[in-house]
Amino acid sequence: MVEKDHAVKEFFRRFAPYFKDYIPRFIQAGIGVVLVAATTGAVTWLIEDVLDDIFINQDRRALMVLPPTIIVLYFFQSLGRYTQTYQLAWIGQDIVRRIRDRLLDHVLSFDIAFFNSFRGGELISRITNDVNRIRYAVSNSVSVVARESLVIVALICVAVLKSPRLAFWGLVVLPAAAYPLVLLARRIRKLAHRSQEKDADITARLTEIFNNMEIIKAHNSESFEAGRFQADNLEFRRINMKGVRARELTSPMMEFLGSIAVALVIWFGGTLVIEGQMTPGRFTSFAAALFLLYTPIKRISVTYSGLYEAVAASDRIFNMLELEPSIVSGTRTLDGPIERLEFDRVGLNYDQTVALKDVVLAVERGDTVALVGDSGGGKTSLVNLVLRLYDASVGRVLVNGIDVRELDLKALRDRIGIVTQRVYIFNDTVAANVAYGSELDLDRVQNALERAGAWDFVSDLSGGVEAVLDEFGTNLSGGQRQRLAIARALYKDPDILILDEATSALDNRTEAAIQESLRGITRDKITFIIAHRLTTVDLADRIFVLAGGRIVGDGTKDELMRNCGEYRRLATATADHTTES
Ligand SMILES: Nc1ncnc2c1ncn2[C@@H]1O[C@H](COP(=O)(O)OP(=O)(O)O)[C@@H](O)[C@H]1O
Ligand SMILES: [Mg+2]
Repeated sequence: MVEKDHAVKEFFRRFAPYFKDYIPRFIQAGIGVVLVAATTGAVTWLIEDVLDDIFINQDRRALMVLPPTIIVLYFFQSLGRYTQTYQLAWIGQDIVRRIRDRLLDHVLSFDIAFFNSFRGGELISRITNDVNRIRYAVSNSVSVVARESLVIVALICVAVLKSPRLAFWGLVVLPAAAYPLVLLARRIRKLAHRSQEKDADITARLTEIFNNMEIIKAHNSESFEAGRFQADNLEFRRINMKGVRARELTSPMMEFLGSIAVALVIWFGGTLVIEGQMTPGRFTSFAAALFLLYTPIKRISVTYSGLYEAVAASDRIFNMLELEPSIVSGTRTLDGPIERLEFDRVGLNYDQTVALKDVVLAVERGDTVALVGDSGGGKTSLVNLVLRLYDASVGRVLVNGIDVRELDLKALRDRIGIVTQRVYIFNDTVAANVAYGSELDLDRVQNALERAGAWDFVSDLSGGVEAVLDEFGTNLSGGQRQRLAIARALYKDPDILILDEATSALDNRTEAAIQESLRGITRDKITFIIAHRLTTVDLADRIFVLAGGRIVGDGTKDELMRNCGEYRRLATATADHTTES
């Protein structure tokens, strides 16, 4: 209980900075709460007058006054309830909006290593489901707990004022009823936690399935996937039903315990009325106050578990918000273009895997270098270090003599254009796809498309650069998508251009055509061409051969043919492959 209260306190501490921005709305909600509680108390209080004055004493003046009073009281009660619910819903919705924005903003700042260790579905679940649970807590739990507690206070006041002696008995029994409920609440909370985790699992699994539909179909693994999903789904139901069992036990149990209180009150009260120590009206008023207590107590106990769900959700969200990205921007800016890029005895480890070791390399503006080597050799890792998708574990990567870690991250990445085998096409126009991330300038778009050798097919599209591409670019061929990606990289007019297996998936003719269009644009840049097919690297002035994360040879094609065994092996393999196909 102590630990839970602490969790709830922590929950409110975390949201305090948000709450501060809604003070006028909170005040209105507070007025609403007070109205609801006060009018509920007043109506209960008036039962004594209604019964004794109107029905027993048959007082006509009271008959004129009391019914309209009741209407007025209920009017204010409804007004209060509406105001309070509306204002708190507004606050809840707005906090959710802000947390969602902040969460995505924050998550986007994480490095690639973070995304590799997290399943996409899990992140989605945080940003959608978990944030929603918080909204529920803020708009519902808080509002119900605040309002109903005050109603309880009002009703207890009425009960005590009407008959202190009876109230003592009635109110002693109530707290005794609370203990089993506390036990239930604990169980409900635990189950809610597990249910949320399962929920995230399910979302993650679905994301996985839908992202890999082609593979699933190709492997005939539909029933395998369905089976795995069913297992999770069944477990989800099991956990939820346990929760339902605990939650739904709460009210019947309270009702039963309440009936004991009712019986006791009638017995004591009846005695007092029969002995003439109390009027029937006063007793009824008292009894009404006591019985009316049941509803707010029930509401609070039900919503309390909702609050705990929100606490668990907010724990997860704030854990994520407190994670620091490990790749942070430096402060130095680059004056002028990138003239020189240097790897100074660089090593890179991913957890256990050694991806790069002792890499020494220096390239100057205007150089076109190729990185070749078997898959897994470390080529992608090497260029990822330039972009700072990862940071070197050992050594330094220097741009114009400055460690990339000291440079402003955005400024650095603005100067790098990268094309990989995987092309992302966004559901937008060709122009927007090319200018992605920068300001849209149609002349520059055309220029980039021309240089990427993409202008011809784009102008053939109906709508030209304004043609809308569908997500994944299924209305384009592989070569066209690839050229669009190259145009996107060129649009930035980068100082460093990286083509990481950019043309590997294409046929030789398309590749040659793209190569041809690249020839003219590498003059004022540092260009990295990564390929495992050696035909691709003809553009390069210099070739680096990577094997097992090390540079095992560098030089021109002819030099390497003479001096580098690894290169000869690759060349033979390529030749074999070419004759085969
Ligand atoms: N995100 C990652 N996490 C763990 N290991 C990785 C990751 N990326 C690459 N590796 C490993 O690092 C090595 C080099 O990979 P990579 O740079 O992708 O090679 P290449 O691009 O030459 O095919 C391989 O052993 C690969 O398995
Ligand atoms: Mg690679």
